[in-house]
Amino acid sequence: YRIAVFGSGNGSNFQAIADQVQAGQLDVKIELLVCDQPQAKIIERAEKAGVETLVLTLKQFESKAAYEEAILERLTEKQVDLIVLAGYMKLISPVLLNAYKGRIINIHPSLLPSFPGKQGVADAFEYGVKVTGCTVHFVDEGMDTGPIIAQQAVPVLDHDTVESLHQRIHEAEQQIYPEVVRSLAQGLIKLNGRKVSKRNGFI
Ligand code: GRF
Repeated sequence: YRIAVFGSGNGSNFQAIADQVQAGQLDVKIELLVCDQPQAKIIERAEKAGVETLVLTLKQFESKAAYEEAILERLTEKQVDLIVLAGYMKLISPVLLNAYKGRIINIHPSLLPSFPGKQGVADAFEYGVKVTGCTVHFVDEGMDTGPIIAQQAVPVLDHDTVESLHQRIHEAEQQIYPEVVRSLAQGLIKLNGRKVSKRNGFI
């Protein structure tokens, strides 16, 4: 089972997946790391993990479609089964959505559908919720709107700052994301409309 990870930033979720692959706990091959930010730390992490990188910026292309066509070409070449978005800060357009229908997942740092968008942690914190968390979902054309695969709750503590809260959400993310990738690789996840279920119980 071949995956590609897309990221734009730090790459702690990439690292969690790569570490499990390395340790023989996750039976997938990370064929490619796709990154749109040439300075991002995630590129370094991929190189250290021995994962091939594809670094492309949108500016190099005439359009978003052309940019995604270039990515798609490499994904096809490498027979990638699943696209794993991990801090990738661009919306996926129809080129990749159509080619990888139902085979793109994302992780978001809130309990969706609450607090979608780029500031999920800060928005939840400012709102004053007592419980937030993270969500893994299939990707559709919207921003953080696709069918939900797994969620983990994280309590907001009285002494929390946005940073300390984000730190604990990251820890939760690093637990559930590799687990979801494992379930998908094993063919255990079924999608029926918006309802996602796992054959052997709890994710
Ligand atoms: C995570 O909080 C994820 O939920 C969001 O972007 C962040 C990526 O962090 N989509 P990292 O690059 O994996 O460290």
